Amino acid sequence: MAHLHITSWVIALVLVGLATTFTRGGREKAAKISHMILRLFYLLILYSGGSLFASYESYGALIIIKVLVGLWAITAMEMVTIKYKKKKPAALWWGQLVVAAIAAIILGFGFLGAGVLPA
Ligand code: HEM
Repeated sequence: MAHLHITSWVIALVLVGLATTFTRGGREKAAKISHMILRLFYLLILYSGGSLFASYESYGALIIIKVLVGLWAITAMEMVTIKYKKKKPAALWWGQLVVAAIAAIILGFGFLGAGVLPA
């Protein structure tokens, strides 16, 4: 499940890059398709993250924060993509995406123990 989780958010981040690059290049259709696939990957992230969460026996503060930060990162991915689509400034959401993604990665790999790296 950790592998599905990691693969899903890596691909999702790539898709955010693709969708925004396509939008910038005026390739609306390619951007739309990338965005639709991106939304499928949110579901995979949520499913795999939810399964990892369910595998815990007790819930401390860190794992709760990890889940919230993960949800924040997904929100930021969606908002960045939508801001590009609407030709609105996206810098604030890019900033949040960077912060949330880095925080989720540090918490996931660094501090929590259910996955592929020994904590
Ligand atoms: C872009 C968003 C996300 C990123 C970058 C991210 C990143 C990570 C990373 C790096 C890990 C450690 C993998 C491992 O265990 O080896 C992890 C684990 C986990 N993630 Fe996420 N995640 C994201 C979204 C989410 C969401 C939305 C949820 C909840 C629904 C979630 C729940 C979890 C849980 C419960 C774990 C297990 C923690 C552990 O290792 O014990 N994640 N995540």
